[in-house]
Amino acid sequence: MYFKIRGMKDNDIDRIIDIERESFEYSYPPSLIMQAYTSFPEGFLVVEEANSKKIIGYIMCIIEWRNGHIISIAVSKEYRNRGVGTMLLNASEHILFKRYNINNIVLEVKFDNKIARKFYYSRGYEDKRLLKNYYDDGSDAILMVKKNPYMSSKNGPIIINMW
Ligand SMILES: CC(C)(COP(=O)(O)OP(=O)(O)OC[C@H]1O[C@@H](n2cnc3c(N)ncnc32)[C@H](O)[C@@H]1OP(=O)(O)O)[C@@H](O)C(=O)NCCC(=O)NCCS
Repeated sequence: MYFKIRGMKDNDIDRIIDIERESFEYSYPPSLIMQAYTSFPEGFLVVEEANSKKIIGYIMCIIEWRNGHIISIAVSKEYRNRGVGTMLLNASEHILFKRYNINNIVLEVKFDNKIARKFYYSRGYEDKRLLKNYYDDGSDAILMVKKNPYMSSKNGPIIINMW
């Protein structure tokens, strides 16, 4: 079985919402997802199982203030731990860091989501700040950040760090 990564298309949205609902207790309203997609379509990628063309994972990124923001990433349960999340993250980093030359990638992750936090740590993301009561149920998030590894501090722009 092998996997193929590609840009999201309008009619992928229903399957993406299914994966999102299976992965998170609270999910984004479809209208919000479509709004973010329209603002930066290149930041929305899916992985499909190559033979069946079934979508098995997605990542959604936007650009804000010269920083990339991962607003959601999820892989369908039965396909986790086979490198699909890494494929999605690597491809997004390539787009954001190399093509768009953004300063940092930021994301929020639930404090007790150990698997996702470990996934990000081992891929160069660092804890930046605790966000108390971030989610609707009152639970906390961690803001994580990865700096653009390709940006030279000598030649790059002056970064005003928001965090
Ligand atoms: C986080 C997520 C996207 C990773 O996708 P994936 O396809 O499983 O990712 P990969 O196969 O590339 O890598 C899996 C990593 O998780 C780790 N992992 C998987 N299952 C694990 C478990 N039960 N316990 C601890 N670590 C686990 C693996 O060790 C691996 O990390 P490593 O390569 O650093 O060792 C996926 O777990 C997911 O969809 N989770 C639910 C949604 C979510 O939490 N999204 C992030 C919110 S910010």
